[in-house]
Amino acid sequence: MRGERVQLAAEADTKIIESTAEAESRAAGERATKTEPVIKFDHIHKIYKMGDIEVHALRGVSLAIRQGEFVAVMGVSGSGKSTMMNIIGCLDQPTRGTYILDGHDVSKLSKDDRADIRNLKIGFVFQGFNLLSRTSAIENVELPMLYSGIETAERKRRAQEALESVGLAGRENNHPNQLSGGQQQRVAIARALVNHPTIILADEPTGALDSRTSVEVMEIFQRLNRERGITLLLVTHEHDIAEYAQRVVIFRDGKIRSDEPVLHRRDAADELKTMPVLDDDDDD
Ligand SMILES: Nc1ncnc2c1ncn2[C@@H]1O[C@H](COP(=O)(O)OP(=O)(O)O)[C@@H](O)[C@H]1O
Ligand SMILES: [Mg+2]
Repeated sequence: MRGERVQLAAEADTKIIESTAEAESRAAGERATKTEPVIKFDHIHKIYKMGDIEVHALRGVSLAIRQGEFVAVMGVSGSGKSTMMNIIGCLDQPTRGTYILDGHDVSKLSKDDRADIRNLKIGFVFQGFNLLSRTSAIENVELPMLYSGIETAERKRRAQEALESVGLAGRENNHPNQLSGGQQQRVAIARALVNHPTIILADEPTGALDSRTSVEVMEIFQRLNRERGITLLLVTHEHDIAEYAQRVVIFRDGKIRSDEPVLHRRDAADELKTMPVLDDDDDD
């Protein structure tokens, strides 16, 4: 059964590659040369200590994710999903076990070194957007570059480019409260993209969005994954959202319960063509 599923998934993958444009096949070629996993967890444990109480949030998680994979992470609340994402994103450290990120052991790095790696390689997208409310869209997108010492004009240019790539050209000067939920999440994706990360970590990115807007956000993620080879990890509670990924990892009690390819992968761009358009540019 498992073998058959893998085979079907491989066929599905082939179809995706065949249907892509020339520019994408170059990205795919570059990806194919990189066979080492970009993320490698080896028996990762995480124990939170709060006074006398210990919470064993991860209990020996081993996982390998290749560059250019799109992985959905599922599991009930409290099963360890965010803990894993925080460790992958170098926001936190494992209590035990080894984490190799892009060939480097980052399990025991100092806080400053982790911040440097994070800034260089990883973009974050959250359920609640986490935008600065008194700050324009373009300034929100510029934020991650403030730490990299990029000069003002170049910062603006890159932020502009990132906003355009998520379909928000013309919205640069809007503040978050002048944008719909979907538009705010697109600003957050532009902010995640602006340092050209190899990995994007998205924790429930569609949790606060309606169904069409969710598909629009998934269309952006699928495009970034396909065209730029960005590795994507996405936590979701919704099975239909997980089906936009190539692979689904399910957590239970701090362990991986299952890890399977997606059999019938959904294509957000295709689906949008037949979904009714709500004109979110003019309301909200
Ligand atoms: N900073 C923390 N301090 C103490 N316990 C935590 C902390 N973060 C998470 N936990 C606990 O670790 C377990 C896993 O949490 P989490 O990774 O947030 O799960 P999920 O994202 O799957 O809902 C839960 O029991 C949670 O209460
Ligand atoms: Mg969580």
